[in-house]
Amino acid sequence: MEDWLINFVFSNELDYKPISDILDQGKSIVLLKNVPLNDDILSSIVSHLGIPITELRNNNNKDVFDVKVFKNQGLFRSIANSNLDFPLHTDCADFKETPNVIGLLCVNPAPKNQGISTFAFVSDIVKKLDFDTITVLLEEKWAFKNYFKPILTQKKEQFRICYDRITMESYTELKEEKIKKLDLLDTIFKECTLELKLESGDLILFRNDLLLHGRTGFKITSNRLFKRVRFHLN
Ligand SMILES: [Fe+2]
Repeated sequence: MEDWLINFVFSNELDYKPISDILDQGKSIVLLKNVPLNDDILSSIVSHLGIPITELRNNNNKDVFDVKVFKNQGLFRSIANSNLDFPLHTDCADFKETPNVIGLLCVNPAPKNQGISTFAFVSDIVKKLDFDTITVLLEEKWAFKNYFKPILTQKKEQFRICYDRITMESYTELKEEKIKKLDLLDTIFKECTLELKLESGDLILFRNDLLLHGRTGFKITSNRLFKRVRFHLN
């Protein structure tokens, strides 16, 4: 087992304190195995750990969102609802306050070698950046829809990251020089990428402010289904 991934097995008597502590420290991803494929149980797991974000597009307007291929009038509703490769990003980067934990429960995985979950820890990313680049990333603000934020922030000596190139490029026309900066960052993120192929019943819980996440593409005909929750850690 890798130290960036810590396994637990779901049961009704599960002690959530160690999971909460791991998420609080943010040095590892939690993998909870054998989770029942049920929205209410997923919500109940979240209730032990933090305050969920409810959104209108979620199932029954509550806290669980089905990540699956879904088209509306011939167009994917979002990248999450496509079969496309989803580059490393922060969820809700355009929110005033991004939720600090994301949970993804695999109901149906994509076929072999497809739809692989990807991650990059900001602690690994900053090791590859020189002092001047880190300074610029802490100071330079980028448009995330309605909010201007830097890509890196520092809190309690810990770097935090906010990055979603699709959002950053959708609301502003970036100059060549800025595009080059993002291209360089994407190359570094790729070098730090960790991969994990989830099985049905696997729930991963990870910090949204301390690591980036993404996934590789998969066949559009695949019935890949993940259930997503986003929450603020207690
Ligand atoms: Fe995401």
